[in-house]
This record gives sequence, structure tokens and C-alpha cells, in this order.
Amino acid sequence: MSLVVPLRKCIEGMAWYQPPPEGRVGRLRLDLNENLVGPPREALRALAALSAEEISAYPEYRKTEGKLARFFGVKADQLIMTCGIDDALRITCDAFAEAGEPVLTVEPTFGMYRFYAELVGARMVSLHYDDQLRFPLEEVVRTLGRLRPRVFFLANPNNPTGDLLGPAELRRILDAARHTMVMIDEAYYEFSGMTTIGWIRRRPNLIVTRTFSKAAGLAGLRLGCLMSNAEVIAALGRVRPPFSVNSAALAAALAVVRHPGTIRRYAREVVAARGELELALKRLGVPVYPSAANFLLADFGPGGPALLEALGRRGILLRDRRGDFGRPGWVRITIGTRAQTRELIRELEKAWKRVRS
Ligand SMILES: Cc1ncc(COP(=O)(O)O)c(C=O)c1O
Repeated sequence: MSLVVPLRKCIEGMAWYQPPPEGRVGRLRLDLNENLVGPPREALRALAALSAEEISAYPEYRKTEGKLARFFGVKADQLIMTCGIDDALRITCDAFAEAGEPVLTVEPTFGMYRFYAELVGARMVSLHYDDQLRFPLEEVVRTLGRLRPRVFFLANPNNPTGDLLGPAELRRILDAARHTMVMIDEAYYEFSGMTTIGWIRRRPNLIVTRTFSKAAGLAGLRLGCLMSNAEVIAALGRVRPPFSVNSAALAAALAVVRHPGTIRRYAREVVAARGELELALKRLGVPVYPSAANFLLADFGPGGPALLEALGRRGILLRDRRGDFGRPGWVRITIGTRAQTRELIRELEKAWKRVRS
């Protein structure tokens, strides 16, 4: 049956978003950079304690936003909660991107930047990492000055490359972005330790995002935070749906920030496991890129797809990134605990031997 009303023109030209395959629970989920042990048990307790009334009433945000603002070290009027960082991207595009005008990214990066920018009809302009996976800083600075994009999306650390820009590089970007809102997406902050939240007071063009989906283990509840100066937050308030964050997410997030030690310990465990996997991959002769996040990008060459399939049959899910740069063997591997990583290494060594023979 044909559509009674045709899709908006800008959507007709968009690539279809492919959601990840289902049936992941119960497997070793090394494909979507989630926390692999679950949220702190205090968060589970807070969820179990939700009352019927708390669930049947629409959520109220002010108190929780105040507490989260304190946790992140900003003022209450410098933060809004969003339904995951995804929702932060959407409201940023709704407020600041314009049909036909440029939005900038450096690819490969998190695919939803392009998705939400294209949804409002913005013109996507993508610069690229070079073939050594070096970030094109000079080109970014030049392009910001010349093109004046409305928004520049930058994941730091980046997904899937795992690289991290330092303060000097970020300052150059923000200085060059005089006419651009720069979103620094710190989804993987807990693993990198590098943040620009403290800069929002002095930088009128800076938005910083954080999520409870990664280190905090709440991906299924969908909660993010967007931080910026009060004027930007007020502007975003105009396009924000009134109830995009649910009561369960609020209760769990408050428990997480009351017990930050659990997340810190998990992040330390991941960083140790990441080192073990990096060494194991190098031993196998597989090129791997340094990462500041809870994943590693490895290049298995032409054997990559067969390896993914073999591990999938053993219940281990990795993320195929061969679409990026057209490299057939790029695979992104989420890191969990050392025990989980050792299990992966054992299976990987066996499967890799079979694929190569
Ligand atoms: C860089 C980056 N930002 C944001 C997200 C999504 O975060 P959320 O679950 O809060 O929407 C991801 C998820 O993979 C990501 O890699």
C-alpha cells in the first residue's frame, strides 16, 4: 500500500537505520559497549522499591536534576536530563540545526549524529580520520572557520576508534568554532577520565553530554544528561518533550550517583581487562588501535567476517565495523571484566587459528 502522505523529502534520501540484532540477552554481549555486570545493586533495589503511585504519576524532574547537577559539578540551570544521549542529539538538532545548513562530524564516529542531523534536513559535512586513524585537527579547525557549521558533534573518546583528544586540541576546536555549537559527547568518560564539563561556564558554544548507559549499566532505562550554560539549556527547554525521561530511570540514577565507588571500580576493572586484550591481540599479530574507552577496535583483515561468525556461534557477540572506511576486517570489541575478557581471548585464539588455516 502506498503512503497517503509522502515522507518528508529529507527522509526519503536517508539511509535506513539498522537496529542491532535482537536475542542478545544471555550471551557475552561484546558488541554495544554496555556495562557487562549490570548496575550497582543499590540501583536494582531502588527500582524494586518504586511505588504504584510513583509509576502511575508523570515523572517530576526538578529534584533529580538538582542532584545530578551537583554530582556533575554544575548548577541546576546548566543541566537537563534526556532519554539517553540519543535524545540530547535530537533536541540539539531540533534547536540548532537548520534544513540545508551544515552540521559537521569526523567519521568514523557514532552514527546517530548523522541520523538526527539528516532528520532535520541539515547538510552533513564529514571530515575523516586518516588511514593511521589520526584525527584531522587542522582540517577541523579550518572547516569550522570557513564553513561555520551550526553544530559540530565530537565524541571524546570517539566510537569506534577509541581515541581521545586532550585539552589543548579541544581548546583549539572551541576557539575556532565561533559560530558553531560544539557538542562534546563524553559517553565513555568513566574510562578516559577526561572531561570538559568545567569549561561550560566560560564557553558559550559548548555542550557536554554524559550517559548512564555505559559504565553505570542503565542502558535499558535510557538516561543521559546534557550540560551547557544556562542560556543554551533554556533554549533547549523549548524543544524538549515534557516527559521524555521515565521514573524508573530517575530512581536508578539517583542510587548510582549515591554510590559512585561501584562505577569507579568497574571502570578500573575494564581498563585492566582492556590492557590484557590489547596484548593478546598483538600476540596474535592483529593490529589494534589504542583506546581510552571500554572497547577496542581491531583489524582482522579479510578473516574478520568469518571470525565474527565463529564467535557468534559460541555465544560471543562482537560488533562488525567493516562499513567504516570499507575495511573488511574492522571489529569493535567491548571490554567487560578480566574474567569475561579471558573467556573471549580463549575462544578468539581457537577461532582465529581455524579462520587462518
Ligand atoms: C559516542 C556515543 N554517544 C552516545 C551513545 C548512546 O548513548 P545513550 O545510550 O545514552 O543514548 C553511544 C552508544 O553507543 C556512543 O557510542
